[in-house]
Amino acid sequence: MTSPISTRRHGDILIVTSNNPPVNALGHAVREGLVKAIEEADGDDQVKAVVIRCEGQTFFAGADISEFGTPKSFAPPMLPQVVDIIENCTKPVVAAIHGTAFGGGLEVALACHYRVAVPSAKLGVPEVKLGLLPGAGGTQRLPRVAGVAKALDMAATGNPIGAKEAHEVGLVDRLIEGDLESHAVAFADEVKEVRPVPRASERTDKIEGVDSSVFADFRKANARKFRGFDAPEYNIQAIEAAVSKPYAEGVQEERRLFMELMSGTQARAQQYFFFAERKAAKIDGIPEGTSPREIRKVGVIGAGTMGGGISMNFLSAGIPVTIVEMQQEALDRGTGVMRKNYEATAAKGRMTPEQVEKAMGLLTPTLKLEDLADCDLIIEAVFENMDIKKEVFGKLDRIAKPGAILASNTSYLNVDEIAASTSRPEDVLGLHFFSPANVMKLLEVVRGAKTAPDVLVTAMQLAKKIRKVAVVAGVCYGFIGNRMLMPRQIEANKLLLEGATPEQIDRVHVEFGMPMGPFQMADLAGVDIGWHRDPSRIENIRDALCAIDRWGQKKGAGFYDYDEKRRPSPSPKVQEIIEEFRAREGVTPREIDDQEIIDRTLYTMVNEGAKILEEGMAQRASDIDVVWVYGYGWPVYRGGPMFWADTEGPAKIVEGLKRRGFDVADLLARKAEAGEKFTR
Ligand code: 3HC
Ligand code: NAI
Repeated sequence: MTSPISTRRHGDILIVTSNNPPVNALGHAVREGLVKAIEEADGDDQVKAVVIRCEGQTFFAGADISEFGTPKSFAPPMLPQVVDIIENCTKPVVAAIHGTAFGGGLEVALACHYRVAVPSAKLGVPEVKLGLLPGAGGTQRLPRVAGVAKALDMAATGNPIGAKEAHEVGLVDRLIEGDLESHAVAFADEVKEVRPVPRASERTDKIEGVDSSVFADFRKANARKFRGFDAPEYNIQAIEAAVSKPYAEGVQEERRLFMELMSGTQARAQQYFFFAERKAAKIDGIPEGTSPREIRKVGVIGAGTMGGGISMNFLSAGIPVTIVEMQQEALDRGTGVMRKNYEATAAKGRMTPEQVEKAMGLLTPTLKLEDLADCDLIIEAVFENMDIKKEVFGKLDRIAKPGAILASNTSYLNVDEIAASTSRPEDVLGLHFFSPANVMKLLEVVRGAKTAPDVLVTAMQLAKKIRKVAVVAGVCYGFIGNRMLMPRQIEANKLLLEGATPEQIDRVHVEFGMPMGPFQMADLAGVDIGWHRDPSRIENIRDALCAIDRWGQKKGAGFYDYDEKRRPSPSPKVQEIIEEFRAREGVTPREIDDQEIIDRTLYTMVNEGAKILEEGMAQRASDIDVVWVYGYGWPVYRGGPMFWADTEGPAKIVEGLKRRGFDVADLLARKAEAGEKFTR
C-alpha cells in the first residue's frame, strides 16, 4: 500500500506532504510516513530544512479517532514519539497550516520549529470535547508557545482560535497571503541556517513566574460550564504540570492523565457521540445521486415564539425570509422580538450593528399568504391545532410554486394528515425546531409516508447551512424527543403525588447532568403550554397552578416561587396544592429515594426509546441520543439515553422497570436477554 506521506525536493528544502482524506487524520500509516520523512531529512546532507504540509481541505485534524481502542492506535510509532522525532530533527522544520490544525495536528505543528498559516486557518486542541486531553505533548508545548492563559482556555474549552489570533499570541510565526506551499518553502529557506533550531519543549519564557492563582481563577470562572465533565479538570492539571515541573516530567504527567481519561466512560461516551452526530446526517433508503432542491428564499407562517426564531436562522445564513401573520400587531410584535434578539447579540459583541441591519434587511413582513408564491421552502409555525394547520396547508397548496417544499413545525401532530390536505404530499415534511429556535442546535426532520427523497436531502443539507444538527424521525405522536419526554413527565407528576417534591425530582435530574429538571423546565417553557384554559376545570396539579396564574417564570411563580432576579425557591403554596391533591386521591405520602426517581423518569425514557427504534421511528439508536443531547441538554458525557442504557446495562434497566410495574418494550427485553447493547 502506498504511504499517505510523500516527499519531494525543492532545492535544499524537503517538502513532506500528507494526502489522507478526508481530514488528514494521524492514523498509523501517516505517523509511520512522517517518521520516515524526518529520517530522510536527517540522513541527507543536501536537505537544509523541511516543510510539512497537507493536501485536501485541511492540515492534520487530529489523531484518527476511529483507531481509538484498536491495536492500530497503539502500534508504534505512537503520536508522542512522532512529535518528539519531528522536534528532534536537526534541520529546521516548518508546519504549513491551512484548514484546521486540530488536536494531534496542532501537536505536530507545535513540534515543528516554525509554523506558518493562511489567515483562514483554525488552530485548536478539541480533545476535551472527546473527553480527553492533548496527549502528544500538547499540554506541555502549547503553554510554552502561546502562554498559559491562552493554552488553558484552548485546552479546557476545546475552542479553536483563528490564525490571526494565533499569530498575535506567538503560535503562528507568519501569516501567509497567497500560495501557502511556495511561501512556506521561502520561509524555510530564510530560517534554514538558524541554530540551535528553536524547540518548544526547551522554552521557559512564557511559563516562568506564573502565579498559581491563574489556575484557581480559571476553575472558578468556568465551574458552571465544566460541571459534571472530567476532562476539563484533567486538562487544567496537565497545564499546571507544564508550569510546575520540568518538561520531561510534565510529559509523563500528561501521559498519566491522558491514559486515565482514555479508560473512562466519559471519553467513550463523547467519542461515540462525535460519530453519532455525523451518522445522523445519513438517511436510509435514499437513492444514490439524489440531488437537493435549491433554496434561495424561505417563507415562514406565524411570527410567534417559534416563527421568529426559525426565521432568524435563515436570515443569519444570508437567506431572505418572508414572514406572514394574521394581524399587523402580531407581525410587529414578532419582528420586534427578532430585532431585539439580534441587538442583544450585538450588545454582547457577537455581531456587528451592520450584521444586524443586514439580517433584518433580508426580512419581508407581510399579512398576505400570497406573498409566499416565490418561496422555495415554506415553514408553517401557527398554533398547534390540526384544523388550523390543514387550512393553512390547503391554502399553501394553491399559492406555493411547483416544487416548493412545504414544512410544518408541529410538535406532535400527524404530518401525513397535514400532507393529505395538499395535492402534493411528496413535497411535505416536518421540520421540528426546538425553542429558542435561533439557539437550539437540534432539528427533527419528520419524514412523512410520501415525502420525496430529494425533499429530505434538501432538509438535511439546509440544516447544515443554518448550523443545525438534523435527525430524521418518523411520523408518531411527539416524534423522537417529545415522545420520550412524555413518560418522564407522567412519572414526575405521579411522583409528586406519592411523596416527592419538585425540588427533589429536579435535583436528581440536575445531579445526573441535565441542565434542569422536569419542573424547572415546565416553569421556563410555561406551565400553561397545552393547558385547556378553563380555571374551573382542575384535574391535576398543573391545572391547579394554571388556574391561579402560576404559569412559570414569566409570571414570577410556577412550581417554584421566583424573586425579582428570577431566582427560584421552594413554594409553600405549591406544597399545599400537592397535599390537597394527595388528600383528594387518598394518597398517603411516602419517602421516595433517588433511585426510584431515576427508574421511573429515566428508565421509562429508555423504554420509550426502544419502542421508537422497534417501530422504525428512529433510524438508529445513536440518532435518539443526538436528539436528546442537542434538543434537551442530556449530558454528552453520558452519551445520550440509549448509550447510557448500555452503560447501565439493558438487563438492569429491565429489572428496574419491572420492579416498578412497567411493561417492558420487546426490543429492550430482547437486548437484555441476549446480553446485547443498543449502540455498540
Ligand atoms: N479521526 C477520524 N475521522 C475523522 C476525524 C478524526 N480526527 N475528524 C473527522 N473525521 C471524519 C468524520 O467522521 C467524517 O467522516 P464521514 O464523512 O465518514 O462522516 C469526515 O472526517 C469529515 O468530517 P466532518 O463531517 O466533521 O467535516 P467538517 O468539514 O465539517 O469538519 C473538522 C472537519 C473540523 C476537522 C471536524 O471533523 C473535526 O472537528 N474533527 C475532530 C477533530 C478532533 O477532535 N481532533 C482531535 C482528535 S483527538 C487527538 O488528536 C488526540 C491526541 O491529542 C493524542
Ligand atoms: P405562538 O402562539 O407563539 O405563535 C403562533 C403564531 O401563529 C401567532 O403569532 C399567531 O398569530 C400566528 N398564526 C396563527 N394562525 C395563523 C395563520 N393562519 N396565518 C398566519 N399566522 C397565524 O406559538 P409557537 O409556540 O410559536 O408554536 C408554533 C408551532 O410550533 C406550534 O405548532 C407548536 O407546537 C410548535 N412548536 C412550539 C415550540 C415551543 O416551545 N413553543 C417548540 C417546537 C414546536
